[in-house]
Amino acid sequence: MKKVLILDFGGQYNLLVARRVRECGVYCELRSFRISMEEVQAFDPDALIFTGGPATVFEVNAPTVDPALFNMGIPVLGICYGMQLMTHLLGGQCRKAITREYGKTELTVCTGSPLFADIPEKAVYWMSHGVEVESAAPGFTAIASSEGKKLYGVQFHPEVVHTEYGTKILENFLYGICGFTKEWTMESYVDTALRECREKIGSKRVLLALSGGVDSAVAAALLQKAVGDRLTCIFVDHGLLRLNEGDQVEQVMKGEFHVDIRRVNAQKIFLDKLAGVTDPERKRKIIGEEFIRVFEAEARKIGKVDFLAQGTIYPDVVESGLGGESAVVKSHHNVGGLPDCVDFEEIIEPLRRLFKDEVRQLGLALGLPESLVWRQPFPGPGLAIRIIGEITAEKLEILRKADAIFREEMAKAGLDRTANQYFAALTNMRSVGIMGDERTYDYAIALRSVQTQDFMTATWSRLPWDLLDKVSGRIVGEVPHINRVLYDVTSKPPATVEFE
Ligand code: XMP
Repeated sequence: MKKVLILDFGGQYNLLVARRVRECGVYCELRSFRISMEEVQAFDPDALIFTGGPATVFEVNAPTVDPALFNMGIPVLGICYGMQLMTHLLGGQCRKAITREYGKTELTVCTGSPLFADIPEKAVYWMSHGVEVESAAPGFTAIASSEGKKLYGVQFHPEVVHTEYGTKILENFLYGICGFTKEWTMESYVDTALRECREKIGSKRVLLALSGGVDSAVAAALLQKAVGDRLTCIFVDHGLLRLNEGDQVEQVMKGEFHVDIRRVNAQKIFLDKLAGVTDPERKRKIIGEEFIRVFEAEARKIGKVDFLAQGTIYPDVVESGLGGESAVVKSHHNVGGLPDCVDFEEIIEPLRRLFKDEVRQLGLALGLPESLVWRQPFPGPGLAIRIIGEITAEKLEILRKADAIFREEMAKAGLDRTANQYFAALTNMRSVGIMGDERTYDYAIALRSVQTQDFMTATWSRLPWDLLDKVSGRIVGEVPHINRVLYDVTSKPPATVEFE
């Protein structure tokens, strides 16, 4: 299988470059620019991409690479800082641009270059640097050295959505210049993944914590197909899942995949621990700690296992600093961490090479139902951080019903996969309303729906009024104790996606 090695110079979009390449059906990995020549050779890439970064080549300690990379006889694409560096190392001249615009910029490209095959001469590109390569068409250079090496560069970012034809440019590089085909599909990866799991696990035993989320469900399905009943799953139901979610996961995993699941119904334990707690961070901490405690108690009943499986996915690997160059961004979102009292020898992470979309595709290829695979991201602390203030069984019930109605109507309107995350949250506010001839004093529920690529920033979804009207009517009509429905029109920042 053809492979692209993407060298990370610390830019904010570098993981996105990797995702786009994978979306083109080409396997790639993101590594720090500090990678040694031996490591590059061990990876044995068929093409290289140099990504962007915050530096410019004019700085004294600007990140650099071994120019021997250009003599490997494989195509190279430089993006933004990557192109500056290529120009610099190949003896070209960069200069600081004086009037360079940032953000969305209309540029003219070199139409003669195969990198720009079939795209218009003028289009909008995304710029993040004030450096140009001299004697080039404004904003762009396609470097093609005299020895006919396939060296290309773009000043802008083809990977971001703002760049018109960005995907086409990457496709031109991957298919047109490198001659790759769409080899990397999850249908073709299933067999490799199963073989790798079997080789690693042999005749040993694996334990997996099922969370109710997509990743752990796909990991469970994969491991079950690989090693059958040598996989045991512990599913801690903390009672903070969405309507029927726990039952659905159990039913699919047990009923259809014959996974050995030990479900612990710990709703009461969690509710007791959370009684009276209103601070969001304390809620998270209690849930994280309690989750591990309950998991460990159950694991002790099973005894020693050889492997503890984790549903870690590729962005987690890169963002926790193991793969790329980019800063550690995310740790606060992982609930609990590793149960370190569980008796196991080694960790196995069967999804660690995959992006979220690929995890979903793999799930489908393994035969998991769409309803389970296409669930939107759901936080580990669950509904606890969607109930502002104290959590009670009654509030959980109200929220579950309202949230289910919202999700049902989003699906009916065909927006369930367009919005990246949407849910109901129970505010801590009660207000006056009127029902029949009666005055009411009940809860206000808030609806939230966001569009986002990476969840670090998000904009609120412009949902149709008719849809909001329908959802609002159904919620106040069908869910007791709600007399007001609000729609959140705040983006992130300044708000966060979740309410707590
Ligand atoms: P925020 O609220 O930080 O959410 O804008 C961004 C994304 O992260 C999810 N999220 C969490 N996930 N544990 C999780 O596993 C958490 O404590 C947590 N807090 C937020 C949120 O659902 C959204 O997808």
